[in-house]
Amino acid sequence: MRIDVLTIFPDYLAPLELSLVGKARQSGLLDLAVHDLRAWTTDRHRTVDDTPFGGGAGMVMRPDVWGTALDAVLGADPADDGGTVLLVPSPAGEVFTQRTAEELAGARRLVLACGRYEGIDARVAEHYATRPGVTVREVSIGDYVLNGGEVAALVVVEAVARLLPGVVGNPESLVEESHGAAGLLEYPVYTKPPAWRDLPVPEVLTSGHHAKVTRWRRDRALERTAARRPDLLERLTPEALDREDRRVLAGLGWYVGPGGPRRAQVRRAVPDDAVALAALAAVTFPLACPPSLGSEAIAAHVATQLDVGSFTRFLTDPGRVVHVAADEDTGALLGYTMVVLGSPAPGHEDGEDVAELSKCYVHPDVHGGGLAGRLVAAATTAAAQHGARQLWLGTNAGNRRARRFYERCGFAVVGRRTYDVGGVANDDVVMSTPVLAP
Ligand code: ADE
Repeated sequence: MRIDVLTIFPDYLAPLELSLVGKARQSGLLDLAVHDLRAWTTDRHRTVDDTPFGGGAGMVMRPDVWGTALDAVLGADPADDGGTVLLVPSPAGEVFTQRTAEELAGARRLVLACGRYEGIDARVAEHYATRPGVTVREVSIGDYVLNGGEVAALVVVEAVARLLPGVVGNPESLVEESHGAAGLLEYPVYTKPPAWRDLPVPEVLTSGHHAKVTRWRRDRALERTAARRPDLLERLTPEALDREDRRVLAGLGWYVGPGGPRRAQVRRAVPDDAVALAALAAVTFPLACPPSLGSEAIAAHVATQLDVGSFTRFLTDPGRVVHVAADEDTGALLGYTMVVLGSPAPGHEDGEDVAELSKCYVHPDVHGGGLAGRLVAAATTAAAQHGARQLWLGTNAGNRRARRFYERCGFAVVGRRTYDVGGVANDDVVMSTPVLAP
């Protein structure tokens, strides 16, 4: 790749002789030249700027000087194959990201025009954008203002050069790093000594267990990204996240929807939720029923037991605790649970210390996203706070997925019952879990 940098402070670019970029230049992987813009001035004072038309503070760089300089630098390259990018660093440019660096690494040639003062006369970018074979990009390295484009040019050159084949010794190190293909920030790294100032290296890293190390690093990357760059997490696709990823994210307050990870809040439901709860129940209840149960029985149950009136009663009944999971941004309900306090398990005596987890449903779009576990945890905590020491539930005997999920939550099968849905008796397993005092 050929890179030309034009500046009024060529010395500012001296670091490009060092380290990996310097080596890449020496080995011929990168052909880089720094030019003094003032070489193209014609007056005694070597003037590059003037006062802004329309008034205002500061000085603006003259288009005629830049035009002569850029014509000379671009003209030295006869190949008009569309592979030249003219980069103009500017706080008003598009944000320069790893994706930009990747795109630029595919160019044949980069020309960086470093402005100073209030910037370069806008006609320069406008003019070169019409030049065949040249693409103009104004790029900002962040939402802050520097004194000129030189530092940004250093940033751009280093970020692009390390992506050129052969510049970084081990190309695999480019995959896992922050802003790499995984879309996550990189996990924390450690080296010798294994203990330093009372701080040991996490044990798993010295275990020699490769799979565990990989999982640990992935978990830390997810945690870091959630805490520091939630915007990056939101850009991941659901396919990029496995079951363990989802479990980790759920523990951090996230769920995985069709559009990728989003933040979800689990909270006590309020009477105003009744309409949305009835709508959610109408979607989720039929999906939990066995295929043998006719749609009429299901519809009858939904219409009489899960309607707005029923939910309004549930939400105002002091003997019931309803929790909802809601998307933190939109407020849309994604799942709900209902605990009935003092409700005895079938075949058991009434007891103050027994509660029933009578409902636990999650919208099918977000199944497997970690919400059900959070809802059950909230329901269990609420049951404990209300004095329950045992929490039980009934779930359709044919619903193996539900049974496995409740087992993961600590429930065990303790019996059977029949459950009426729209006048049809269904075979349920009864599962129960001890509840720890809060
Ligand atoms: N010139 C001045 N501030 C800049 C920034 N944030 N990015 C790129 N070029 C700049």
